[in-house]
Amino acid sequence: MNSLAPVLRSALEDELAGRPRATLAAATARLSERYRRGGAAQAPILVTDADVAAYAAYRMPATYAACERALALSSLCFGGRIDSVVDLGGGTGAGAWAAASVFEPSSVRVLDQVDAALKCGQRLSSSVFDARFETWRVGSAVPAADLVMASFVLSELSEAQRAALVHAMGSSASEAVFLIEPGTPDGHQRILAARAQLVDSGWMIAAPCPQSGECPVRQPDWCHFAARVERSAMHRQIKGGDLSYEDEKFSFVFAVRSGASPSGARVLRHPGKRKGFVDLTVCDAAGETGRRVVTKKQGDAYKQARDLRWGDPWV
Ligand SMILES: C[S@@+](CC[C@H](N)C(=O)[O-])C[C@H]1O[C@@H](n2cnc3c(N)ncnc32)[C@H](O)[C@@H]1O
Repeated sequence: MNSLAPVLRSALEDELAGRPRATLAAATARLSERYRRGGAAQAPILVTDADVAAYAAYRMPATYAACERALALSSLCFGGRIDSVVDLGGGTGAGAWAAASVFEPSSVRVLDQVDAALKCGQRLSSSVFDARFETWRVGSAVPAADLVMASFVLSELSEAQRAALVHAMGSSASEAVFLIEPGTPDGHQRILAARAQLVDSGWMIAAPCPQSGECPVRQPDWCHFAARVERSAMHRQIKGGDLSYEDEKFSFVFAVRSGASPSGARVLRHPGKRKGFVDLTVCDAAGETGRRVVTKKQGDAYKQARDLRWGDPWV
């Protein structure tokens, strides 16, 4: 896989070069507050060109990184081929960029209700990969594709819309359905509801779960992962803060019709790497979570465990 993160960063710099930073910062503050508050949207949250530009500047690198990590992990657990992708509620196209980087499909369609976001997405990706950006609303027909995905969309929908969207995704995807949400307790609950709906209609879970039965992660805990995102100078100017990176937390599900090869276990936390042993928290194929301590005496297993990262498959 060839990460498109640096290409996206430079496309964003070009796209936003002439925009006053103060306007972007004001729109960013409004959008962050709205997304933090959560709840279904009665009307589009992205309204003006400035909203779309701010969203692209402060959210696209992070949603791209989360989608790229989740799709890369998913691709390790799936033997099929993804040659066409439909990205629903795709906005400015961050999820489509990630799918393009992981699967290199020949056809990519990004569907959304906000025309300004679609136009921005088309400009950003035009010299990088072929994609069609099209007006669409939840409830309209979903075009067929090998992979149908929705990244960071469910939280803006009512429960009935979420169920309808997941049903439509499952009906139009020939190989895989991918959903990703913020790595919060609520985000995980939305993913769990979608996961259950997909399993009930015959889909198998390829990632992150090692099995398609009930999820063993119980509240107040929640299943989530993280992707590190470098923060550009522009990002720091409009969002504030000094750190050169941030960790974008996410929950996801990648369901497949066939060809699932789920991992034996999934690493659920940062591994504790101590002198002579590695302390892992995993979710396993028996549908249980727990600690596994791998000691130096275990030779190759120990060497392998020392390289593990949060979210990786194990054995
Ligand atoms: C938080 S943004 C995520 C955008 C993109 N998927 C990403 O990961 O960066 C949510 C997107 O869902 C779209 N959306 C929300 N409700 C929708 C609806 N009813 N019909 C179509 N798109 C919708 C919004 O317009 C927005 O672009």
